Amino acid sequence: MRLSLSTLEGYLTPLANGLNRWRLMRWKGLLPAIAALEPELQALSDAQLRKRSLSVRYRAKSGVPLTRLLVEAYALVREAGRRTINMRHFDVQILGGIAMFHHSIVEMQTGEGKTLAATLPMYLHALAGRGCHLATVNDYLARRDAEWMRPIYECLGLTVGVIETKMPQSQRRKEYACDVTYGTAKEFGFDFLRDRLLLRRIAEGQGDLLGGMLAQTAAAQNNEKPVQGEPHFALVDEADSILIDEARTPLIISALPSEEERLAIASYKWSASVIPEFVDEEDYDYDHEKKTVELTREGRQKVRTLPKPPEMDTVGMVEIYQYVERAILVDREYHLDRQYVVRDGEIVIVDEFTGRLAEGRKWRAGIHQAVEAKQGVEVTVETGQAARVTVQDFFLRYEHLAGMTGTAMGSARELRRIYRCHVLPIPTNRPAIRRRLPTRVFGSEGAKWEAIVDEVRELHALGRPILIGTRSIDRSEQLSERLNAAGIEHHVLNANHIEAEAEIVARAGLPGRVTVSTNMAGRGTDIKLGDGIADLGGLQVICTEMHDASRIDRQLIGRCGRQGDPGTYRQYLALDDDLLLAGLGPKKAVKLEERGEASPGPFDSFGRLFRKAQRIVERRHFRQRRSLMYFEKERKKAQRQMGQDPYLDTPGS
Ligand SMILES: Nc1ncnc2c1ncn2[C@@H]1O[C@H](COP(=O)(O)OP(=O)(O)OP(=O)(O)O)[C@@H](O)[C@H]1O
Ligand SMILES: [Mg+2]
Repeated sequence: MRLSLSTLEGYLTPLANGLNRWRLMRWKGLLPAIAALEPELQALSDAQLRKRSLSVRYRAKSGVPLTRLLVEAYALVREAGRRTINMRHFDVQILGGIAMFHHSIVEMQTGEGKTLAATLPMYLHALAGRGCHLATVNDYLARRDAEWMRPIYECLGLTVGVIETKMPQSQRRKEYACDVTYGTAKEFGFDFLRDRLLLRRIAEGQGDLLGGMLAQTAAAQNNEKPVQGEPHFALVDEADSILIDEARTPLIISALPSEEERLAIASYKWSASVIPEFVDEEDYDYDHEKKTVELTREGRQKVRTLPKPPEMDTVGMVEIYQYVERAILVDREYHLDRQYVVRDGEIVIVDEFTGRLAEGRKWRAGIHQAVEAKQGVEVTVETGQAARVTVQDFFLRYEHLAGMTGTAMGSARELRRIYRCHVLPIPTNRPAIRRRLPTRVFGSEGAKWEAIVDEVRELHALGRPILIGTRSIDRSEQLSERLNAAGIEHHVLNANHIEAEAEIVARAGLPGRVTVSTNMAGRGTDIKLGDGIADLGGLQVICTEMHDASRIDRQLIGRCGRQGDPGTYRQYLALDDDLLLAGLGPKKAVKLEERGEASPGPFDSFGRLFRKAQRIVERRHFRQRRSLMYFEKERKKAQRQMGQDPYLDTPGS
């Protein structure tokens, strides 16, 4: 019999599950030994505890294998947690910590305390040397977690660094020199690339003697050395988001612009500045359907006569026409807060389907640069020399990789295959008492929104806090209008300010709060219930649509019922939801839509159909990622064979 890959997976999955159970059992066996050290460590003074930690570190540095130090190290971290921030690691957190030390991606439910569990493998790996990085999804979480956990590390004589988006190189170097460093996956990747470009500049200089000396002196003068150091251990928080959803995002940075690029920048800026001079149908023809703009004779005449900066003297007139046409197109078609937002002086594309920011993604054919010029932010030309790495490749470079998230099991196969990490579910500390309320399905969006507003009104009257998740900024705003019309006070978040948002979400558990957010805003945010809220039933989460991946839905749902708190959630769906079209195809989707138009519903029995559509979309995305990965692998192989650095590229390659 021929063994196909899927039958093989069919055999492997139960095998993997069996192995997982065996691993967990073996690691559970370490818990008593860790607990046995507690009384002894509790009796130590702070100074003595630190000394004990440094002696473990000394042993690690002199070559004792870390596995043999694990019991003592974990007992030390638990004690440090207890005495500094009054959080003693639960057994399940220790278990998760052991699994992460052994290259696992652990699934610990939302709200189980992964932040605290992470300190265990971070500490143990840091004993052996530098380069221990905790990567998460946004600056807010990186800083929050580093500051929250700092007392634990410091109590044990370790230093903690945080990398943030806008941070000078000299500061970065200091943060990386700490024993453990927190930051976003993206920033870790960019630092790797900046180092790579720097090293190449220095290496290239060494080719010819004079250039080499100049490059080296310049580097020395600017105190330019790589900032990051060796990739030793990476612990990835929100692992499914980073290692799956963002895995294909290429991180790209460019070397300093050359002469040619300076011309391009000047042209983009000039074109953006002269747009108001051009009149539709007089100076140009605009076709909204085809998304094209063409200058008329009058328009071209205008381009020629308008004064231009001296940098543009050498740019050809035909090229300048194109710059102006592109600038007009961008002015007509690309709008702030719709297709993009401006964050930290950068254009970030908004994915219109999900309302999420597609960080790192760029429009092609000069559109991105034209948008940058229009918004007056720095124009980032496609420079000759650039360095690129995908999030996936970046993390595969680490000697040790582990991860944690509330939602990984659905992607276990993918994670195992790509990252060679096993995915392990860790039991909860206290049984979760989050309750699912029956899903409600309506004929159309309109009927759905009405029902949602009705439910919000009822719960709000009782003083229960409510968190409502939507799939896009647009829909958040629609809902907000309806809530305003119903006189319900609420807070709306869209993807503009992750930090302020995370703080608003964190307060979503206070009495009577109504919070509307896109699904993404919630990830990782801890929501504590206000006084008396638990007695009312806790936070209620309302999902207004299903997302392309069930993991994302579960992240939102995971904002309630944390740490054994009560909480409820309900999904509202409609027969004209985007998901049905994406999953079931236009034929079926149209039929369903027609049915929905004929009657407002309810169609609660259709709930299963949505899950089916979701599974189809999930599988499709998985296949897409798999083939992209394959092509990327081939590309790198070819580049290596040609003796080129796969992370550095030149135009045309
Ligand atoms: N050992 C502990 N003792 C007391 N409180 C704890 C302990 N561990 C975690 N907590 C509490 O649990 C809550 C959730 O923690 P945390 O935000 O780290 O969860 P999480 O697993 O990262 O959730 P998410 O998946 O949403 O990111 C926090 O309020 C934290 O104080
Ligand atoms: Mg978390």
